[in-house]
Amino acid sequence: MTTFSDETRARAREIIARYPADRSRSALLPLLHLVQSEEGYVSPAGVEFCAEVLGLNKAQVGAVATFYTMYKRRPTGEFLVSVCTNTMCNVLGGQEVYDTLAEHLGVGHDETTADGKITLEHAECLAACDYGPVMTVNYDFFDNVDPQSALGVVEELKAGGRPMPTRGARLCTLKEMAVQLAGFADEREGAVADGGPGEPTLRGLRLAEQHGIAVPGFDPNTPIRSKAEADKAAAEAKAKAEAAKPAPAPTGSAVASGTPGNAGVGEPAPAERATGSTAPDVKSPDAKSPEIRAAETRQPDARTAVADAPGTKVPTDPTAPAPRDAREAQAAGTAANAPAGDGKPAGDEAGAQQRNLKEAEAGAGSNGAGSAVASETGVQK
Ligand code: FES
Repeated sequence: MTTFSDETRARAREIIARYPADRSRSALLPLLHLVQSEEGYVSPAGVEFCAEVLGLNKAQVGAVATFYTMYKRRPTGEFLVSVCTNTMCNVLGGQEVYDTLAEHLGVGHDETTADGKITLEHAECLAACDYGPVMTVNYDFFDNVDPQSALGVVEELKAGGRPMPTRGARLCTLKEMAVQLAGFADEREGAVADGGPGEPTLRGLRLAEQHGIAVPGFDPNTPIRSKAEADKAAAEAKAKAEAAKPAPAPTGSAVASGTPGNAGVGEPAPAERATGSTAPDVKSPDAKSPEIRAAETRQPDARTAVADAPGTKVPTDPTAPAPRDAREAQAAGTAANAPAGDGKPAGDEAGAQQRNLKEAEAGAGSNGAGSAVASETGVQK
């Protein structure tokens, strides 16, 4: 059984500390990447480690670990080569690329070469259809590959080289990538700035430039902020929004008059009044709050009221039930689902499973029709 290193344990504490104390189970996804960064896959020991540090049971951790394909269930090579064989890449030759690599490496899907270097897998859409056929090595992209160029990449890997991806940072090992996926920065000097976006990604931006379309305040060179900077900016924006809130007005009038902004239901928004168009007015500064704009994007015709957006008034429905306090609701839910004897949530207690089986068998004996249900669910009602 693996004993995880002090470094992994320290990182686990750091990950858990990112979440509210009563929401620590949300740290499960990065923690699974973390244990994978030490062992190269999510082993039973890794599942147990996550369960232990989060106060979950192993079945709960296993259910998550087996759902996502990025969590590997057996030892994986130093380099994970994923070839997209989904529709777009497939019609452009993705399957041919996969077949060529499989034959050359002598492995099939989810199998690793004898030297432990390369694991091959076919993937379902790597979200880069405009570069198809694509493959990734440890999740870094190699665009527009064909059988020959893909062979060149794996040959270089086998020879100990690190071919440069088409976009993104230079290659690292799968374990190193798992550390990044767990939420820790790539600390290699200049790695993040290695590769810029490709032309297909920038196509929309180029078209917008050609047609003089711009989003007010958009800076394509906006640097990625540190967490402290982002937190500070969010606090400032919140304070600004609070300060901009108008004094409370008589209830009900604004919904009757509709949102967004101050436009009435029968009254078109400013851009619409001028042009008849409901598209955002990109030439004038955007006076709408991000909340209103997001709501409009989701439901362009609904004139959705946004509770705390400046200038928005939400209807008061006297018949609507009072909002339930989230903590109270959670406490009620917990009370209704008593923990098993080991103090963990019900479901993994061996005795309970046996009782369920016995009940199922008894039910099957007294009602022949119930046996099929019992065998499928383990519980006879
Ligand atoms: S189909 Fe291959 S990246 Fe989408």
